[in-house]
Amino acid sequence: MCGIFAYLNFLTPKKRSEILELLVTGLKRLEYRGYDSAGVAIDGANDKEIALIKKTGKVALLEEAIKEISEALYLNELTETHCGIAHTRWATHGIPSEVNSHPHRSDDHNSFVVVHNGILTNYKEVKVFLEHKGYKFESETDTEIIAKLIYHFYKQHPNFSFRELVENVVQQLEGAFALCFKSKFFPGECVGTRRGSPLLVGIKTKTRLATDHIPILYGKDHRPHGRVEIPSIPRSGSTEFEPLEDKQVEYFFASDASAIIEHTNRVIYFEDDDIAAVRNGILSIHRVRRGMDDPNHREITTLKMELQQIMKGNYDYYMQKEIFEQPESVVNTMRGRVNFETKTVVLGGIKEHIPEIKRCRRLMLIGCGTSYHSAIATRQLLEELTELPVMVELASDFLDRTTPVFRDDVCFFISQSGETADTLMALRYCKQRGALIVGITNTVGSSICRESHCGVHINAGPEIGVASTKAYTSQFISLVMFALVMSEDRLSLRKRREEIIDGLKNLQEQIRKVLSLDGKVKSLAENLFNKKSLLIMGRGFNYATCLEGALKVKELTYMHSEGIMAGELKHGPLALIDNNMPVIMIITRDPVYVKCINALQQVKSREGDPILICEEGDSETIAFASQYLEVPRTVDCLQGILTVIPMQLLSFHIAVRRGCNVDCPRNLAKSVTVE
Ligand code: F6R
Repeated sequence: MCGIFAYLNFLTPKKRSEILELLVTGLKRLEYRGYDSAGVAIDGANDKEIALIKKTGKVALLEEAIKEISEALYLNELTETHCGIAHTRWATHGIPSEVNSHPHRSDDHNSFVVVHNGILTNYKEVKVFLEHKGYKFESETDTEIIAKLIYHFYKQHPNFSFRELVENVVQQLEGAFALCFKSKFFPGECVGTRRGSPLLVGIKTKTRLATDHIPILYGKDHRPHGRVEIPSIPRSGSTEFEPLEDKQVEYFFASDASAIIEHTNRVIYFEDDDIAAVRNGILSIHRVRRGMDDPNHREITTLKMELQQIMKGNYDYYMQKEIFEQPESVVNTMRGRVNFETKTVVLGGIKEHIPEIKRCRRLMLIGCGTSYHSAIATRQLLEELTELPVMVELASDFLDRTTPVFRDDVCFFISQSGETADTLMALRYCKQRGALIVGITNTVGSSICRESHCGVHINAGPEIGVASTKAYTSQFISLVMFALVMSEDRLSLRKRREEIIDGLKNLQEQIRKVLSLDGKVKSLAENLFNKKSLLIMGRGFNYATCLEGALKVKELTYMHSEGIMAGELKHGPLALIDNNMPVIMIITRDPVYVKCINALQQVKSREGDPILICEEGDSETIAFASQYLEVPRTVDCLQGILTVIPMQLLSFHIAVRRGCNVDCPRNLAKSVTVE
């Protein structure tokens, strides 16, 4: 996730300092969406050249950088062209650095600049096309191709409007994006568009607008999307602008309403493939072609939310928001990597190392807390699909034991933050011994990222709640994708691989279904919140859910909780069972189903009354319990993604009921940079 903000002023002229201040404040509101670097583009002296200011780190550092070069920016000069675009970044392609920060530019003269939120999956082929045309790239990002491509089209069609150029550009893009463009050739104009990533515009007028909608202007292009080989699409779409009656207006493009609510509560949420252009103070919305059910206009809605509320969306807590983001975050993890048509998986970050990994002595998966659990969750599948020995290690214990590591070992370091001290030290330990180091992180440019030989970025977006939720499911999927890559040439595993890929395809919908259990989970929490302890039992592919569920309960609710391997029940934990001990059992129709039912019988015969997490419609299993949660059925090795979500919800609701600080549990920090 990144944050986009753009501002256009058609009131009385403003000083450049005022416009910059507005942009920086907008970015601060969006900082929760990403905070590894930030940048702005604004018209420079005499409104001719565009000034670009970028800084690695938080928005506050960008603010300082602006102060430092204030003279060069002519801060007190009144601007005629009124337009600036800004961005706060959460790196996906390329480390956090000034050159990789947005806005990206077309050339040394900043003729076109663009800010982007999302991931382009075809940027490499577009880049090759542009390189052949002589364009030189300065960053490692996917975004830079957009700035170069629009310039390329401009040179071919200098009579095209700004909006038409953007229409041509987006025809060439695959993946997810929200974009805002600015150009020195189109002073005072801004064009925004989206596909898959959010974008809205806030409208502030002196007097209330009479209209509640903006008409959509449809183009006449009925051809399928063009590709880079076809230099451009014909001019399409009306060039007429439908004026808002009040031209004393300010516009605010943003990734979400948190950035604009202090200025206006009148917004238009754009739909995929809308192209919104502001020219001469007039906003118009275009679409290249009209679909069957396309409406005639976009509504201007009036927001009734407070700022704090908007940053958390419709949620009261970041953790809750992150749990509910999982239908999208799991797709982002797979985007551009899993091809559901051809049933293939490509992990660009480790592709070149795959032959070496296939020859290794063993795979070692190392992490702490939730990240460690993602390794437990996928170990069995890795063993099955790679036929290699797989060791899963807690980083601290691994170091305590001075575990032997060899040159032909491949060591995976799994970490949401990429900064966890124990994990980082274990990484250095293995690196010194000559092993191949693979980082699995959510934070590009983090220490673990930088110090790994290769890796997979899980693309879950920033996780703000201290308790990890969406990072876990994305780590899980990243490791599953790795197992699939390792087995791509194994004919005997073809069927198995295909069922897993089909399972991945259905995950988004299935996660939505699990999330719809929220109300039921909340009522369970009502019965559990004043208990002292909670045991969570399962085995096989669901064992990791027991460990992760218990960790969530402990850290969020401060209740005692234990994840128990059901096979170990009779070796001790059974003594804990009586009619007072709350137990959750995870029982799905996998190869250990019968064994789990045995454990269930044992618990019941000691007067236990376990709550079941089981598969939808499994009436035979449900008959054993008075309380249960049904999750959709998926392939056994992915079932843990669906069974962990009720546990995330349960710990959340118990914590709220107990009055605990959900987003910042006591004594814990998001990034544990000490041993
Ligand atoms: C639990 C949790 C922690 C982290 C652990 C490792 O909800 O968040 O257990 O998983 O501190 O952190 P990372 O993944 O950043 O290395």
